[in-house]
Amino acid sequence: MADSSVKNERLTIVIFGASGDLTQRKLAPALFHLQSSGALHQMCRFVGVARSELDDESFRAKLAEGMGEMSPPEREAWDDFAGKVSYIRGSSTDDASLKKIDAAVSSFCSDGSADNRIYYLALGPSLYAGTLLALGRCGMLNESGGFRRVVIEKPFGADLKSAQALNETVHSVLNESQVFRIDHYLGKETVQNLLVFRFANTIFEPLWNRNYVDHVQVSVLESLDTEGRAGYYDGAGVLRDMMQSHLLQLLSLVAMEPPATSGANALRNEKAKVLQSVRKYDIDQAAANSVRGQYAGYRGEEGVAPSSGTATFGAIRLHIDNWRWQGVPFYLRSGKALSAKTSEIAVQFRPPPHTIFDTHGRDVTPNLLQISIQPHEGVHLTFENKKPGTRMGTAPEILEYHFPPQLIRDSYERLLLDAVEGDQSLFTRSDEIEMSWQIIDPFVESWHNSLKSQLYSYEKGSSGPGAADEFLGAPRVWHHHEVK
Ligand code: BG6
Repeated sequence: MADSSVKNERLTIVIFGASGDLTQRKLAPALFHLQSSGALHQMCRFVGVARSELDDESFRAKLAEGMGEMSPPEREAWDDFAGKVSYIRGSSTDDASLKKIDAAVSSFCSDGSADNRIYYLALGPSLYAGTLLALGRCGMLNESGGFRRVVIEKPFGADLKSAQALNETVHSVLNESQVFRIDHYLGKETVQNLLVFRFANTIFEPLWNRNYVDHVQVSVLESLDTEGRAGYYDGAGVLRDMMQSHLLQLLSLVAMEPPATSGANALRNEKAKVLQSVRKYDIDQAAANSVRGQYAGYRGEEGVAPSSGTATFGAIRLHIDNWRWQGVPFYLRSGKALSAKTSEIAVQFRPPPHTIFDTHGRDVTPNLLQISIQPHEGVHLTFENKKPGTRMGTAPEILEYHFPPQLIRDSYERLLLDAVEGDQSLFTRSDEIEMSWQIIDPFVESWHNSLKSQLYSYEKGSSGPGAADEFLGAPRVWHHHEVK
């Protein structure tokens, strides 16, 4: 019996590219948690498709391996979930394989129940277009027997031109309402909290503009290197891998106007308006508004070209040409092999216009709001406070809130459930994707030209190239909340 609180219907989720890392590390655990917590209809089925020589049993065992140690009750719930999982060996672009999959999925609904389906493309991006066309050709996107939705992983395109071409293919076989372009950052609790923080409180909104904000930083820093993914990463680099997707999505949520409702269209309209207002640079402007770096030893990694100019670190400065943000720079920074893994948005407020206190030569610390995406998910507000004592000295103090760690779920859980329930709010629309590439393309081009943009080396485990500090320029400093 389905839980009466479950809002979704019976459906089959078909994962193409199911033998890969994403399915084992993220998708299967997320689906298992959703299923075992009663968030999904009891009759949901999960089908993995890949070319690897696996059968139902070995596929289930591979997924179980990705779960690590399970307690006895968890193991029991897993067995129940695994019973709903099957594997079909085949190719996502081959009609014969698709027909086999189609027949198998249809057979789950032989009792006359609706044949709802989600196809998850956990594939190499070069297979997206071919897979979509093949699904269309084989009639597998026809919604007469139930809904058909497609989840597409990032990267969506490698530049504006290829993203436009992919969108054209998508729209030749699907309506936009069937398309769920995933950016897993939007599934993070703290990223959604940005909306609540901004639009369910009144005290910050009056300050959230050019009159009070000096600049905004969006940092997504990683301590890991390319982790054996250098083959993909060397062609992508930090601009395509992180900036075009995760960082621009964060920027659009910080900078957008209040949407009319929390519905998908209202939200995505406002995000798109921000991206549309970001000043478009030519190649020289892009070079002047960025710094790139590569960690020492990167070129020696397997899959990396010995003379690779791929940036593993980048900092860029954007301007949003609208009434709210005119003159307020937005700095986006991301890199691999750095000293810590931390994602954070820092809103740096302007200093007081005049100081009346004796600060012993020290400038009064301007207010700083840090929204910590991960780890130590929460919010920190730095404010100036009286130093206890007989004199009128001041010192910065921090007000902070942290989410209880055990309540933070993996972002894929939220996003998969949204796709099942047909809620597109946390998925990127075709125009957002294209506008993001339009912003990023000039940086990619300028970074290809070493005469325009120097590639700085940095040590693994450091905070990135020193040139990034000069780029920000004193008195501005990069913020990164220190966990005590
Ligand atoms: C992915 C990138 O989209 O995001 C990876 O391809 C990166 O290179 C990852 O490591 C970071 O995600 P998270 O959730 O660990 O910050």
